[in-house]
Amino acid sequence: MRDSDVDLYTFERLRDEFGSFAASAADDDLGRAQRDLIGSRYREILRELTAMVSYQWKEHMERSALKGFLFHGGVGVGKTAMAKRLTYELCRRFGDNGVAGRNSDEVVMILVDGADVARGRYGDTEEQIRDIFKYARDGQSGGHHHHDDDPKRRTVILFDDVESLFLTRNSAGAKEWHFSQNSIFFHSIDDLDTAHTAVILTTNRLDLVDEAIVDRFLSYEFAPPPVAVLEEVTREKAKLQRLTEEDLQPVLNAIRAPGAVKSIREIERMVMRAYVDKLLKAP
Ligand SMILES: Nc1ncnc2c1ncn2[C@@H]1O[C@H](COP(=O)(O)OP(=O)(O)O)[C@@H](O)[C@H]1O
Ligand SMILES: [Mg+2]
Repeated sequence: MRDSDVDLYTFERLRDEFGSFAASAADDDLGRAQRDLIGSRYREILRELTAMVSYQWKEHMERSALKGFLFHGGVGVGKTAMAKRLTYELCRRFGDNGVAGRNSDEVVMILVDGADVARGRYGDTEEQIRDIFKYARDGQSGGHHHHDDDPKRRTVILFDDVESLFLTRNSAGAKEWHFSQNSIFFHSIDDLDTAHTAVILTTNRLDLVDEAIVDRFLSYEFAPPPVAVLEEVTREKAKLQRLTEEDLQPVLNAIRAPGAVKSIREIERMVMRAYVDKLLKAP
């Protein structure tokens, strides 16, 4: 497997998304990115995740029982964004400022789209999973030759929207997790070098998650953000589109009806709508 075969998030790519870090950290010890996640609950989750992964990586906890995290919650509430932001923070912590001299000094995230793997887009599902873990450990085949005294590269593996990957229909027509305890996925997870790797799973179907996953991963619920956070996101996204407070009124009004808007993705669509409406009204 090569770098071009996977959806690889490097420091540079994450910086494009979140913007540069300010020169000094915030009071919570986390970096302050130009386009950071909004909302105190997100910040708190980021702080906890960073503390746990940093500990395992720094203290060489190679065989930890904690393999990573399970993010669950509705669509568009920031699960994928959190995995990216965590990786960006780990880049900052572990000294990767984008000028790492060697591959092995990098922190990268590998995004694995559950639906793609399930569809067999890259071939046999179990083979792919094996390859993904191998790639996470060693980097691209043929590239870097691994020596025992080399620092190993550090990787976040994101299995995004895993419900399609791990679910299948059983004979009774009910959905159930497809991977058994002995499957290659659990084998890879149990073998994971937790001093260099963290695995994140996201799903909007917690009800279908197998106990074997719950045992190995720490669960985080991503609830619909409170109105105040939705408003702040609205203003932030609107600033990028150079919308005025007046342009935004329809969006803000819609948000204030409690429970009307349940995701940040909806906010993005509404701001886009307001922007297009403005363009179409323009003389
Ligand atoms: N806390 C946040 N602050 C600002 N934007 C956010 C935040 N959380 C998510 N977003 C943005 O909202 C959109 C949806 O988030 P995403 O992570 O894709 O949701 P999910 O993975 O839960 O479906 C993305 O464009 C993301 O960048
Ligand atoms: Mg997502």
